[in-house]
Amino acid sequence: MKDINIALAKGRVAKAAMELLINCGCTFKDYSKDSRKLIFHDEKNNIKVTLVKSPDVPVYVEKGAADAGIVGKDILMEDKFDVYELVNLNIGKCDMCIAGFASKMPDYSKKITVATKYPHITKEYFNKRGVLTDIIKLNGSVELAPIIGLSDVIVDIVESGKTLEENGLVVFEKIMPISARLITNKVSLKTKFDAIQWIIDTLESLVEKED
Ligand code: PRP
Repeated sequence: MKDINIALAKGRVAKAAMELLINCGCTFKDYSKDSRKLIFHDEKNNIKVTLVKSPDVPVYVEKGAADAGIVGKDILMEDKFDVYELVNLNIGKCDMCIAGFASKMPDYSKKITVATKYPHITKEYFNKRGVLTDIIKLNGSVELAPIIGLSDVIVDIVESGKTLEENGLVVFEKIMPISARLITNKVSLKTKFDAIQWIIDTLESLVEKED
């Protein structure tokens, strides 16, 4: 009996992560991709999965409410968390990008207004480039900001590019690639070492390795 609790970032990461866990031999009998249920239990292995908002995954793990978590690198870079980041799972792949209207290329010699869910990543990136910014923190639908004149550009994750395209925006620049990571609570890694090591080894064996 492994007895671990894994928090997954709801949405795209959770769908891919559930597939990985099922391929690891876990069985979640009530799970379907469209289910709105938030807790699933693999009774055979005693693995509990909870689906939480992505920024909450490292909070659950840091506080010990979950022993492990699967969450995008974007979330781990935006804030500091006292957790171990152990495996790049190569799922939930996307890019952190600067985007806006093709006809309104930003002039980096002047102060620009940037809307984003990631104010720290954004500030750090533009500071390093010596670009002055006003940063507006939004919690979603960031693509609206240039459309309604709230910002010059956005910094956001782009996966298929569909959201940008359907809102008439283009990528100006890729800042960095993003993918989901396995993180663990520091105490759980010691107290539940065998169970967590099993998850690490099994996930690692399934993960597509980058060339
Ligand atoms: C993310 C991101 C973009 C979109 C990109 O938003 O903030 O809006 O996905 O995906 P695409 O390139 O495949 O279109 P999410 O769906 O998480 O919703 P949110 O805007 O409410 O945060």
